[in-house]
Amino acid sequence: MARKTVMELFAQRIKNLSLDSVTKSFPHAHPDVNPLDLYRAHLSTVLAGISGVSASSLYSVVMRTQGLDKGDFIIAVPALRLKGSKPDVLANEWGASFPTDDALFAKPVVNGSFMSFFVKAEPLSSIVLPMVRQGGVGYGRNDFGGLKDPEDPSKGRKRIIVEFSSPNVAKPFHAGHIRSTIIGSFTANVYEANGWEVLRINYLGDWGKQYGLLAVAYERNGSEEELKKNPIDHLFKLYVQINKDMKEENETIKAKKEAGEDVSELEANSLDEQARNYFRHMTDRDEQTLAQWQRFRDLSIARYQETYSRLGIHFDEYSGESQVSEESMSKMAEQLKAKGVTREDNGAVLVDFTQLLPGKEGKQLGITLVRKKDGTALYLTRDICELLGRYEKYKFDHMIYVVGAAQNLHLSQLFKLVELLGHQDVAKRCQHVNFGLVRGMSTRKGTAKFLDDIFADCADYMHEKMRQNEAKYAQIENPEATADILGISGVMVQDMSGKRINDYDFNMDAMTSLEGDTGPYLQYAHARLCSIKRRAALSEEDLDGADLALLTEAHATNVVRMLAQWPDVVKNALRTLEPTTILTYLFKTAHVVSSSYDQLQVVGSERELMRARMALYDAARIVLANGMRVLGLTPLERM
Ligand code: ARG
Repeated sequence: MARKTVMELFAQRIKNLSLDSVTKSFPHAHPDVNPLDLYRAHLSTVLAGISGVSASSLYSVVMRTQGLDKGDFIIAVPALRLKGSKPDVLANEWGASFPTDDALFAKPVVNGSFMSFFVKAEPLSSIVLPMVRQGGVGYGRNDFGGLKDPEDPSKGRKRIIVEFSSPNVAKPFHAGHIRSTIIGSFTANVYEANGWEVLRINYLGDWGKQYGLLAVAYERNGSEEELKKNPIDHLFKLYVQINKDMKEENETIKAKKEAGEDVSELEANSLDEQARNYFRHMTDRDEQTLAQWQRFRDLSIARYQETYSRLGIHFDEYSGESQVSEESMSKMAEQLKAKGVTREDNGAVLVDFTQLLPGKEGKQLGITLVRKKDGTALYLTRDICELLGRYEKYKFDHMIYVVGAAQNLHLSQLFKLVELLGHQDVAKRCQHVNFGLVRGMSTRKGTAKFLDDIFADCADYMHEKMRQNEAKYAQIENPEATADILGISGVMVQDMSGKRINDYDFNMDAMTSLEGDTGPYLQYAHARLCSIKRRAALSEEDLDGADLALLTEAHATNVVRMLAQWPDVVKNALRTLEPTTILTYLFKTAHVVSSSYDQLQVVGSERELMRARMALYDAARIVLANGMRVLGLTPLERM
């Protein structure tokens, strides 16, 4: 049975409601992919008949509740802003007139000016479960969300660039980069699930004096062999060593200076000076130095890619600070000058927002440099050109920068400068998605260098824990790979548990626990559903043809009520851009499912009941897996 037919069938059973009429009267409703839209449309139509208020006004105030015990929908009558009668009087009247024999809803519960609506158990399961199972990985996808013109799909989809991860090649990969990777990947997935065309860009910090320093370090202590074997490790070692050397050198120079010695020669040959010199060769496009730099960059990217793919992440483009041309920056500098945005100060070029913009905004943005005295461009300058270049190349409808809150000011300055350059339309399309700090993110040995090290350490820890249960451990086919996924899930779920902006403490014990709302718990909830399916050993046809009217228990209905919400949750996540929007929903669903196991046994039940319950659990499995994938987790089938 095609998906639409299931819906048509039910829509026909409900008086005055067919899918087409729903879509016509409620342009934002998509009952063929979102079961709750059908319920909202029906509820609004019935209430319109009772109240005389237009169905579309009603539709816009039908909200989902906080928990199943509070109903499925709630209407706050004051939200309708009706003149005349008191909201609580109206709520009472409408509640009393609501038909007892409505096809989808029980009589509402009225509390003051609030009306709560509970869906009837029948026909909920017969609408939702086939929809979930036929939709499969596509259930919950909001394909209409990204259409340029909702009326005309042939006009195509909106395009978004999500820039995230963006490590600095010659510097450590720190907690901020890990968070950007996790949250950025999530953000991109949410846009994809809402029907947008998504481009993922990694903007590497791959230019600047730090590169010169790294090259100097390589000339002194580098090894070709080690570089090939593990570039990130090797470059990191060199980075640490040279910084130590440089510190010592500075101290020596300082001491000599204080002792009145002549240090001019020492200074002229210092590591810092050598690095500056090397970098100057790079900016002068010296072939040999550029070739060396290119090699470091390529090797590093290859190594990054290994880790990203372990996390199921790919980038459409590895851009970076090095990719911004000097030419585009000079051109931009001219424009800024011509528009009176910048002024010169002692050879440097700066922007004084406090002069340009009146009041609070100018004060907040402060004063900033766009060109140093020695003529080199800065981080901000590169970002402006990169942004405009991306717009030219991709004509994006929206662009998101996933960067820590420490760079709030930088990104506000960036967007404002693009606006002051006369590109208001482009600036409007840009958004900074920020996040707080992680306290104490390190491996147990305290040696985190890269994303891998954290994940590997959590995986080891997980593995040790798994070994403690010998009987269970023996049953796992590939314990290393399982521990790996569980470790990654632990780190990611902990990171996504709170609001993005909150700081949190990295806690390996808590994140690898099977108790509480953790990554391993979520994996377990999913794996358990897979295991039930394996043990039940029913065919897909057995499940397709199950008699869903047998799912009469409140526990079963509650599971279905949760599953019905998933498409709404996906839409909502696009609005909040908070991973916790999805995570909270998944944990709630997992809890409702888990509390039903004692009541709704599959294996051991009579065959028809077994089929119906298995169809229910199979749908729950699909929704959990779909949710985990949006978060960037790989759902495990066994653990
Ligand atoms: N590489 C930068 C850092 O580690 C982050 C880049 C953020 N993106 C940007 N377009 N500025 O701090």
